[in-house]
Amino acid sequence: MALAIFFSFAQVVIEANSWWSLGMNNPVQMSEVYIIGAQPLCSQLAGLSQGQKKLCHLYQDHMQYIGEGAKTGIKECQYQFRHRRWNCSTVDNTSVFGRVMQIGSRETAFTYAVSAAGVVNAMSRACREGELSTCGCSRAARPKDLPRDWLWGGCGDNIDYGYRFAKEFVDARERERIHAKGSYESARILMNLHNNEAGRRTVYNLADVACKCHGVSGSCSLKTCWLQLADFRKVGDALKEKYDSAAAMRLNSRGKLVQVNSRFNSPTTQDLVYIDPSPDYCVRNESTGSLGTQGRLCNKTSEGMDGCELMCCGRGYDQFKTVQTERCHCKFHWCCYVKCKKCTEIVDQFVCK
Ligand SMILES: *[C@@H]1O[C@H](CO)[C@@H](O)[C@H](O)[C@H]1NC(C)=O
Ligand SMILES: *[C@@H]1O[C@H](CO)[C@@H](O)[C@H](O)[C@H]1NC(C)=O
Ligand SMILES: *[C@@H]1O[C@H](CO)[C@@H](O)[C@H](O)[C@H]1NC(C)=O
Ligand SMILES: *[C@@H]1O[C@H](CO)[C@@H](O)[C@H](O)[C@H]1NC(C)=O
Repeated sequence: MALAIFFSFAQVVIEANSWWSLGMNNPVQMSEVYIIGAQPLCSQLAGLSQGQKKLCHLYQDHMQYIGEGAKTGIKECQYQFRHRRWNCSTVDNTSVFGRVMQIGSRETAFTYAVSAAGVVNAMSRACREGELSTCGCSRAARPKDLPRDWLWGGCGDNIDYGYRFAKEFVDARERERIHAKGSYESARILMNLHNNEAGRRTVYNLADVACKCHGVSGSCSLKTCWLQLADFRKVGDALKEKYDSAAAMRLNSRGKLVQVNSRFNSPTTQDLVYIDPSPDYCVRNESTGSLGTQGRLCNKTSEGMDGCELMCCGRGYDQFKTVQTERCHCKFHWCCYVKCKKCTEIVDQFVCK
């Protein structure tokens, strides 16, 4: 394990350029770029690998949704980790998450999974909304357990297409990289591919049937049903659970990833896996890319990760007062609006030293 960490620092920057950077661009700019359809832009977009550039040329109208998917994934990551020492912050628009992604940690595993999931989500919806030339509504088969008198065939999210395109696009970078069997790099590639797949499958498995009632005066004698993506928060919650139970892996002599602790069940294709221990997220460290927790807000009374004790890693905290403005004394006016007053309140806040 320690050796693996050592190697990872010696590597050239693995994620200096990632398709994640598409999520950092302004979406309006992105759509303008692709509506104009100027070919050279695919080669100018930062962060795409050779294979991804090819896909960009072939499927220009898809790129905006890749960007949206990346953005959705990044936002969800920041929500899920908002009370943690590592809060999924992005550092700039070229390396997006900074050097911490060079370490094959649980946090890196989560980030790959949630961004791959974001792409499946965005693509599947874009198909349903008719935004893409190569796909439309879902053509998923009618579920066997759907009551016989309910109609199947509303326009559903095209999760099959979303899954397939996300797989081809997101995995392209890993598939292009060739490294000696047994090397640290090859372990990272296997880890990334595994976590990308776990993210995609989570979206796939959480999608469900949604129905709408028809019939005389809302009698609901008739129903039309279709396949629908789950709310992305559910995907984030599910992946966060997988993060908590992620499996530590190592390369075996045949160049395959195997669980370090062989007493546990092997992880499935839907579980997250990692190969390196997490770096110390307490203190800023240029070489690991950790931003540290100095200056982070913490909760004085919480005993959880957001509590000052854990968040500040025992360094202590400073207290200051801030003015918070809230909507208050809201009244409903006939008809139909709500009018509120603004109330200000002075609250104590705590930040890590
Ligand atoms: C990063 O984004 C900022 C503002 O959006 C932009 O001015 C800058 O050129 C970008 N940097 C790179 C390297 O893309
Ligand atoms: C940064 O992290 C590396 C790797 O864990 C460690 O060897 C080094 O001492 C750290 N530097 C500081 C300033 O904490
Ligand atoms: C996340 O942590 C970094 C470093 O401690 C901090 O600069 C940033 O403001 C935090 N982001 C949020 C949303 O709290
Ligand atoms: C701080 O933590 C306590 C205990 O978990 C919780 O009840 C409270 O709402 C938290 N305060 C803030 C501002 O989040």
